[in-house]
Amino acid sequence: MADVADLFRRLTAGVHVVGVADGGRRNAFTAAWIMQVSFDPLLLALSVNPGHASHPLLVRGGGFTVNVLSRDQLRLARHFGLESGRDTDKLAGVPWRPARHGAPILMEAIAWIECRLTVQPIRAGDHEIVIASPIAGEILSPEAVPLTYADTGELDGSRELYPPSL
Ligand SMILES: Cc1cc2nc3c(=O)[nH]c(=O)nc-3n(C[C@H](O)[C@H](O)[C@H](O)COP(=O)(O)O)c2cc1C
Repeated sequence: MADVADLFRRLTAGVHVVGVADGGRRNAFTAAWIMQVSFDPLLLALSVNPGHASHPLLVRGGGFTVNVLSRDQLRLARHFGLESGRDTDKLAGVPWRPARHGAPILMEAIAWIECRLTVQPIRAGDHEIVIASPIAGEILSPEAVPLTYADTGELDGSRELYPPSL
């Protein structure tokens, strides 16, 4: 039987920085668990840990931005994914601008999508799934190749969270 962490890392996923805002408060975190889940209407799903500093801003703000990273932006994945906005202002020193509803758009992202939540978050084990409608977006670097979760290796330190076998 395959190692479960190795097995699950073969499920391809991109790497993104999710921006959130509630009133004047903003934050952002790295997220691989984002996918399109419907064509009509067009919908995205994001799985978010309810313990993250970003979680209350996302739910109260009613939406988020998805900032797509390129293959050479591992440093941004690390910056937004290994520290919490509870301890530091992760957006300080990173060029960004607010989307229509205030969530940050990273100027260095290769593309961004602004989304609004459509239903209440759904509990999924130790995470919550939020489903959202895209309302705006832009490709900023048409030639750039998106970063994949497999490219990040053990960056998120998640190996120990997988069961030893299925
Ligand atoms: C490569 C990578 C992928 C991640 N994917 C997710 C994800 O899909 N969902 C999630 O809730 N956290 C994910 N994380 C963890 C958060 O980015 C991390 O815990 C972050 O520090 C939370 O920030 P916050 O407390 O400022 O909201 C990921 C981290 C990394 C490094």
